[in-house]
Amino acid sequence: MKGIVLAGGAGTRLYPLTLSISKQLIPVYDKPMIYYPISTLISMGIREILIISTQRDIKLFQNLLNDGKELGCNFYYKTQSKPNGIAEAFLIGEEFIGDSNVTLILGDNIFYSPSALFNFNKDISGAHIFAYHVADPGRYGVVEFNKNNQVISIEEKPTKPKSNFAIPGLYVFDSNVVSYVKNLKPSSRGELEITDLLQQYLQKNTLKVTKMDKGTAWLDTGTFSSLMQASQFVQVLEKRQGLKVGCIEESAYKMGYINAQSLRTLAQKSFSSGYGKYLISLVNEN
Ligand code: DAU
Repeated sequence: MKGIVLAGGAGTRLYPLTLSISKQLIPVYDKPMIYYPISTLISMGIREILIISTQRDIKLFQNLLNDGKELGCNFYYKTQSKPNGIAEAFLIGEEFIGDSNVTLILGDNIFYSPSALFNFNKDISGAHIFAYHVADPGRYGVVEFNKNNQVISIEEKPTKPKSNFAIPGLYVFDSNVVSYVKNLKPSSRGELEITDLLQQYLQKNTLKVTKMDKGTAWLDTGTFSSLMQASQFVQVLEKRQGLKVGCIEESAYKMGYINAQSLRTLAQKSFSSGYGKYLISLVNEN
């Protein structure tokens, strides 16, 4: 299974914060936003990761994350010329995907305690997505279920949502995804829509949707308020538990991708902020 993090986009709802920098580089409490989706992928057992961002900012992501080897992973980088839609990630990543299954995660999506995410079958054929109950479904892709819990419709940002179940930005596909995206036409807003891609799997009866349980937090960071709330959420949890959320080094260590010595070396870089001390505490705990 390979992974793609989509970390471009115009970020217009966060202007002027994002006038000079992609939003996935700005912090959510104590770490850059992109750490969260990367740590989710690593915890899902994915070590081959393609990061897609703008021509302007891809170097910044590379400076931040390097080639991933320090985390026992391989990170690759590609650019998207403009925000042509989420599904374009699979065209940009065609060569990278090859004949593997692939998980796409949006660079601004934060998941906490996503145990449901880790128990899915990585050898899927078709597509596997998640559904999350929210108060304001009209801001998202929305999935509708019938009484037997079967999916009956999927709509992008409907004005009259047919359910409260939003589709989080985490999608698992088999390698046919590239050919499916090639069938897509840009929507009225000029984007290759992820929901149109999911429609194709739904029509072929190969779309699996798992409802995330209440204990899982899925946060988005698309507006000033939700960005602030995400920071506060992470701060409250980290202060209360003394444990970090979205810590890529910890995820790699827990997955056994790096050993205690490598974690100690990584810790040296960020000792004075306390982040490094946290990494050392993980080694000492064992
Ligand atoms: O957050 C989940 C939602 O994400 C889904 O429920 C929706 O179905 C999906 O369309 C998407 O909606 P958003 O309105 O949040 O998408 P947005 O345009 O904000 O882009 C999401 C992320 O992907 C953001 O980090 C920017 C990045 N992006 C987006 C597009 C369209 C790119 O890097 N390139 C793009 O072309």
